[in-house]
Amino acid sequence: MPRLNTKVKILPLTIAVALSVIATACHNDDDSTTLTGDAYYAQQAETIMASMTTEEKLHMLSGPGLPTQSTFSPINERVNTGAVAVGYINGVLNDTLDIPAAHLDDGPAGIKIVSDSYNATAWPIGSLLASTWDKDLMEEVGEAFGNEVKEFGVDFILAPGMNIQRNPLAGRNFEYFSEDPLLSGYMAASMVDGLESQEVGATIKHFFGNETETNRLYLDTVATPRALREIYLRGFQIAVEDAQPWAIMSPYNKVNGTYVNQRKDVLTDILRNEWGYDGMVMSDWGAGVDVDDEGVAAAKMIEAGNDSIQPGDSYDELLASYQAGDLSDDAINTGVLHILTQLQKTSAYNDYEASYTIDNDAHAVLERQAAADGMVLLKNSDSTLPLASGANVASFGVGQLATYKGGLGSGSVYSAYTVTVAEGLASDYTLDSDLSSFYEEYYDSVKVAHTDSWYQFAYYSYTEAAPSSNSTLAGLVTTAAENDDMAIITLNRINGEGADRTATAGDYLLSEDEQDLITTVATAFHAQGKKVAVVLNVAGVVDTSAWSDQVDAILLAYMGGQETGNAVADILSGAVNPSGKLAQTFPASYSDVPSASTFPGVDTDGDGDNDEIYYNEDIYVGYRYYNTFNKAVSYPFGYGLSYTSFNYYNAAITSNTLSKGVKGKLDLQVTIENSGSVAGREVAQVYVSAPTVKLAKPSIELKSFGKTGSLASGESETLDFSIPARDLASFDESDNEWIIEPGTYKVYISPSSDVSGNTAITFTISDEIVIGETTAGAIALPDGVAASDFVTVSQ
Ligand code: BGC
Repeated sequence: MPRLNTKVKILPLTIAVALSVIATACHNDDDSTTLTGDAYYAQQAETIMASMTTEEKLHMLSGPGLPTQSTFSPINERVNTGAVAVGYINGVLNDTLDIPAAHLDDGPAGIKIVSDSYNATAWPIGSLLASTWDKDLMEEVGEAFGNEVKEFGVDFILAPGMNIQRNPLAGRNFEYFSEDPLLSGYMAASMVDGLESQEVGATIKHFFGNETETNRLYLDTVATPRALREIYLRGFQIAVEDAQPWAIMSPYNKVNGTYVNQRKDVLTDILRNEWGYDGMVMSDWGAGVDVDDEGVAAAKMIEAGNDSIQPGDSYDELLASYQAGDLSDDAINTGVLHILTQLQKTSAYNDYEASYTIDNDAHAVLERQAAADGMVLLKNSDSTLPLASGANVASFGVGQLATYKGGLGSGSVYSAYTVTVAEGLASDYTLDSDLSSFYEEYYDSVKVAHTDSWYQFAYYSYTEAAPSSNSTLAGLVTTAAENDDMAIITLNRINGEGADRTATAGDYLLSEDEQDLITTVATAFHAQGKKVAVVLNVAGVVDTSAWSDQVDAILLAYMGGQETGNAVADILSGAVNPSGKLAQTFPASYSDVPSASTFPGVDTDGDGDNDEIYYNEDIYVGYRYYNTFNKAVSYPFGYGLSYTSFNYYNAAITSNTLSKGVKGKLDLQVTIENSGSVAGREVAQVYVSAPTVKLAKPSIELKSFGKTGSLASGESETLDFSIPARDLASFDESDNEWIIEPGTYKVYISPSSDVSGNTAITFTISDEIVIGETTAGAIALPDGVAASDFVTVSQ
């Protein structure tokens, strides 16, 4: 029994479930004994709360502040006191209760341990994990990751991040999954299931409209309710409804004029009443700091349904609001009950003592596999790759040594090591030693160390060596082209929390030196009839259109965690056949991005900071825009090459139960055959083109996806897809409802979002189907702004 008191008896989950099974077997009709999971804990929470004073409740609603604050002192931290934490939920210690404080820690690519004694695994970044399109793998990664969370004494991991990659320059895109809400939602749900299988809480974040880092504490995201619901809330809805995460983090930003953490329509009406969320809402760290709200923000947050204020230190403010009558007992009790319901599942509450031991080796194997499975082969002319192990390789670019495992900020991880691209290549190939020595010396002479702080691991930045300005390198290029079998150029980019990127040389565009390196190396190697491959070790989308035709192969390696270099070598050598596909479009030019003209916002009051960002492209985000308005792109959403080829056949709808009243679902099937000569895996995507009746629609939208197992040459596998009515519906703002409009729908089961050349299967809906009523007036545009004021995207 976890609690010392004898009056309030709280059972751990396993016992509760066991009891409920016995109770069910005995046909006991008493509801209270048959409750399981959150319903059971919610009932227990009522009992626990009855023994708490208002002051204790307020302490539970507000964390104790940052561990670095002098006043910091979590109430009743008595389990896993050595655990790392970036925040706490205060516990309670009184005559009746002994509830220990719970530990909260970052982040999406692994647990953030800062210690000389042990290290956590640095998993691949979110964008790479999403590019696997593999829900089972996500769950497996979640399980291993969750085991680390548990064994390092943390109760809630502040992950996964799942905002929409609206614009390629957004500084935290690397933490997020995709430009598409359906892919984001299902990948997040799988990650949550994996994490929570280990009895630790996942915290999906940042809910919602948090797609920009510039002035992130105060920025107001202005968008139509339809865009907000179909694009920006949709992924969260899927994750909440399908995985019920223990926690969800509200963001810093406002949406349509009000901080999301103060929006009752979002945190209570939509999240709880529409989606049936049972978990806990916590704020982002230090949110609610607007001068306009000073002294009252915390109460407004609790009243809106933001249960936990993080990292907190808001007790005095909450007490003052309570005494002034601005914070109700109802709101306090609601928040406390939500928190207590989740707390009962934590390691802290159940006196689970962390071992501070993880299976580093097994996790590294899984990490390497996940990294390789999500890398995307963008170009491979004349089967440049794979390059057989043992070949002589000329490895260019400082990125081979300054290899980045992940991005900066709360999403960074202190792993024991990072395998660089140079190290990975060296284990499969004979590297040109003169060239390698040149790069080692050069890197040593130019690298600039960025030291450790809470938010960033130590990393180095550098300037790239350009052959035309460096005669040693120029000479080495010539010799390497004569002697080696192939050139591999590694380019990289790092960025992180708190700042957006820019569409300039050295960031979105190649720097002059990088371009010079590509041109010089490609010219020399092509003159010798030899190939050039580029490896992109980047945090986000970069331009490829200016240089892709100069090289023979391009591997988007993203940031593959601590095993990045090994995973790159696995793909280049063919030890792993690439099966990753893009979870975001690579546009032909930044100016083609539908949000290019509005990102990163505008300064409306002339104080020097951007305060509003208009989502003018509405629902036309990413491929929804490029496909609908026939914009050519460099590489479409969903695209990725393999060393083998696949045939799709027998695509069919196997069952359609969509109908008025029933709602139902659509089941489909396709058989995929490996028509090439090596084993490989294929990601198949289901896109739907819906008829326009009342609502305009993007030309296609992703509605399901699946991935085959490894298919040997000539082998086939049939993939089944099931699309619930929810995922087919569009939001009709005028009637506050989700609807499936009548008419003929075209379905494409396709290797990418380029569905041209793909034969559509059709189905017909005879009458409009209402999928769900929503809260009238929720997340409405601010006063004075009308949907017609938006500059809408066009060709
Ligand atoms: C970030 C969150 C993070 C939190 C705690 C905030 O600044 O936005 O993503 O979980 O800090 O480190």
